[in-house]
Amino acid sequence: MRGGPLIAIDGPAGAGKSTVSRAVAERLGLERLDTGAMYRSVAWQALQDGVDPADGEAVAKIAAGALLEVGTRVVMNGHDVTSAIRTPEVSRAVSVVAANPAVRRELVKRQRAWAAARRGGVVEGRDIGSVVFPDATVKVFLTAAPEERARRRGHDESADGVARRDRLDSTRPVSPLISAPDAHILDTTGRSVEDVVEEVLSWL
Ligand code: DC
Repeated sequence: MRGGPLIAIDGPAGAGKSTVSRAVAERLGLERLDTGAMYRSVAWQALQDGVDPADGEAVAKIAAGALLEVGTRVVMNGHDVTSAIRTPEVSRAVSVVAANPAVRRELVKRQRAWAAARRGGVVEGRDIGSVVFPDATVKVFLTAAPEERARRRGHDESADGVARRDRLDSTRPVSPLISAPDAHILDTTGRSVEDVVEEVLSWL
């Protein structure tokens, strides 16, 4: 049983999830879990092993057997992949990996175990408020104007790449990117991190 607040932060790429979830976690003295890093780590391992990311069975096996730690550093099967999971190759491969139902089942199970072992936490992703923690204390769905999202992701992904990934993430049959009916929708366009964090904390 969780003893503290669970804050779910969802939204598309570049909406500000990482920055906002980090700042909220720091303010509350909670740990943060970046679930996108988990899907990215599985995609990285598939590429590393020469496995086709679309080979559902082989990729599910990688997820099930993964020794994965996601904290300040991301360690996958003994390799520090903190930067390697942010390359364009991984960004291109990750949507098909995240659409794999067996991979999602495995990673969602691990995300729930992560929270159960702690006094709550801040968890960011795409389906955290809708699927992983429907009973979260606060659900936040971040958005931002497309140009701003592309600019924020500019270092690792083109505007076309971000748009393509959003399309794939939003239209996949399993756990599509969708805001929970009880989520607070927050447009971060042109707003400071402090301002956004204050608003999230006001919902607690
Ligand atoms: O947040 P990110 O861009 O690092 O996420 C990488 C990919 O993982 C993204 O294309 C969608 C997917 N993802 C997901 O399907 N569910 C989550 N809870 C987190 C990420």
